[in-house]
Amino acid sequence: MKQFPENFLWGGATAANQFEGGWNEGGKGVSVADVAAFKDPKDLNDVHGNCDITDEEIDAALKSDDLHLYPKRHGSDFYHHYQEDIALMAEMGFKVFRLSIAWSRIFPKGDETEPNEEGLAFYDAVFDECLKYGMQPLVTMSHYEPPLHFVREYNGWYDRRSIDFFLRYVDVITKRYKDKVKYWLTFNEIDSIMRHPFMTGGLIESRFPPEKFEEVCYQAMHHQFVASALATKITHENIPDAKVGCMITKLTYYPYSCKPEDVLASQQAMRRLYCFSDIQVFGEYPAYLKAHFKQAGIHLQIEDGDLDIMKQYPVDFVSFSYYSSSCAAADAEGLDLTSGNTVVAIKNPYLPSSEWGWQMDPTGLRISMVDLYDRYRKPLFIVENGLGAKDVVEDGKVHDAYRIDYLRGHIQAMYDAIEEDGVELLGYTTWGCIDLVSNSTNQMSKRYGFIYVDCDDWGNGTFKRIKKDSFDWYKEVIATNGASILK
Ligand code: BG6
Repeated sequence: MKQFPENFLWGGATAANQFEGGWNEGGKGVSVADVAAFKDPKDLNDVHGNCDITDEEIDAALKSDDLHLYPKRHGSDFYHHYQEDIALMAEMGFKVFRLSIAWSRIFPKGDETEPNEEGLAFYDAVFDECLKYGMQPLVTMSHYEPPLHFVREYNGWYDRRSIDFFLRYVDVITKRYKDKVKYWLTFNEIDSIMRHPFMTGGLIESRFPPEKFEEVCYQAMHHQFVASALATKITHENIPDAKVGCMITKLTYYPYSCKPEDVLASQQAMRRLYCFSDIQVFGEYPAYLKAHFKQAGIHLQIEDGDLDIMKQYPVDFVSFSYYSSSCAAADAEGLDLTSGNTVVAIKNPYLPSSEWGWQMDPTGLRISMVDLYDRYRKPLFIVENGLGAKDVVEDGKVHDAYRIDYLRGHIQAMYDAIEEDGVELLGYTTWGCIDLVSNSTNQMSKRYGFIYVDCDDWGNGTFKRIKKDSFDWYKEVIATNGASILK
């Protein structure tokens, strides 16, 4: 019988900024997500809909207590539904639940010296609830949630003081939850700072000279690398048996053709991404990134000791999100483009696309796993995968056969990578296991879950939870450790 390895960690993933809600309750401060406005997407390729923001737009958001215009403020209201939600996850047999701690719930402004006890108590209750069912929490320390005060007063991660603020938060949470949380991720999709600097790095682009902005992003990135290495150190000191991972967006680019120039273009596109995991695994800036800095005239302020810190505290495992693949070519003129995860890239004529244009490619997951494992020889963890789709409720049911098809293909690809390619995979957490607000479009109607949340794009609804067909399907996959679907 074909099955996944014993103790394989099956589960689902969320992030506070899109799922938790309770944006102004329990002493929580405002985060960057709470000022991201919903824009009715006229064009599905408008992947940067909520990524750039000005101080004026932030001022307007702060004057408004509208939940509809700012959907991440309500998310899926996990803040008030966590017991019910965790019970549903337990019913599916989850072994692990990935969630993030909202930094602004613990340090509302980011620069305080004392944490907010009410925020800490909330996550105590959440983790206790998980552990009651034998479910391990997998916690992301930072998932698009920098506190807004930290962003506006200090320019977010551009300011070197960001490292100290973040490490104070890390020390507090790893001490507090040392008996409850063993699996940690430092920064969600650390590479995304180049694609959405506000959400990831707390950088307001209009504050900087345009010609300097790439350097600003890399400087903020450097501070995150130092912070991530020291967060790994602190976590190991506070929780000796903890496992700490890095997390990247696994964008996968194929050469559009076998022309050597296209192969080179895809290799270069992959390196723009791999540099982020290379640094966290090998603890040093790769030569190709240093070459780019030189060519682009980018000068980073690197203090004495930074490089030693990065070298000394690499991550224990490599985690990533994977949704789709796309192509790269030396000359894109005349080629069709399509959306991917916060990118627009060349369309692959051999692959179908989701309603948002993301191309569905289970084999690309296997290719990605092999590439990452061969490169790093560290255990992998797939912490996001899934299909964003418009679900319809009919007679109180959601028939999401399309989601089941997508997941079945990707789970088979994962299995093949383990069995035939020798990849070590710790676990699999599907994205948005309970519907939540989309990061890129701020839509609720881009649903990923096994559980439907009754809320529309304008925030109307009861927030009632409804099991979709995929709920029982995934439950069976977990109960049989994959045997119910593997070929
Ligand atoms: C990942 C992010 O990149 O993609 C999530 O970590 C995000 O926060 C997910 O929600 C899916 O993207 P979207 O734009 O469909 O929500």
